[in-house]
Amino acid sequence: MRTPLLVANWKMNKQIAEAQAFAEDFLPRVQGVKDVEIVICPPFTALEAVRRSLQGSLVKLGAQDVFWEEKGAYTGEVSPSMLLDAGCSYVIIGHSERRQILGERDVDINRKLKAALEGGLTPILCVGETLQERENNRALEIVKGQINEDLQGLRLEEPNLVVAYEPVWAIGTGVNASPDDAQEMIGFIRSLLARNLGKTLADEICILYGGSVKPENTAQFMAEADVDGALVGGASLQAESMARIVRFKEP
Ligand code: PGA
Repeated sequence: MRTPLLVANWKMNKQIAEAQAFAEDFLPRVQGVKDVEIVICPPFTALEAVRRSLQGSLVKLGAQDVFWEEKGAYTGEVSPSMLLDAGCSYVIIGHSERRQILGERDVDINRKLKAALEGGLTPILCVGETLQERENNRALEIVKGQINEDLQGLRLEEPNLVVAYEPVWAIGTGVNASPDDAQEMIGFIRSLLARNLGKTLADEICILYGGSVKPENTAQFMAEADVDGALVGGASLQAESMARIVRFKEP
């Protein structure tokens, strides 16, 4: 059984006081919600404050990126053990904004994934096609290439990996993929995971949809057989809307 997983990706938003205010507002709103896992991914600078605010709750902490080396002369980078030390259990890897704006390649993402797993973090690997790639009927091929390259040489003992399918054209645009299209791609991703990691693990790994997820459309995505949760950007910045997303089962 895969537990529904709802992840807030704050991107480059919220100063420390705003992050604390979110946590204070959010926690009572999700109190008593059962059978879901919730992760909040603040910017690095707010990790410690959010960790303290979340203490005693079941909400987990995640980072938005990680480097593949443990320590040394890598100015500006943060290692898996530093994230663990800061209270993180998850880390987003390969978000399309990093791929597109910062030039992150699949080989980099592969190294980050391996380092995060070795360091005891659960990676949330992001994949997805651009609008042009979808219009040229290349969406499946693009995502297949990303998954196969990102997972190359990866060995897993447990299902401590999350994949997020985030079509680039749906991120921050208000135009979400249809639940049918999300299911088609996520079912395909599960078959690729089975080939790379074995069917038993592939059946246990959570695969999320991301891209303009809102309180109003979450339940439709969650009703799809292979969609196990959501990676939420814009709608995760307000405690009220993130809490409604977490409470997607309630009418
Ligand atoms: P969005 O972003 O929900 O604002 O579309 C999702 C993401 O980039 O993870």
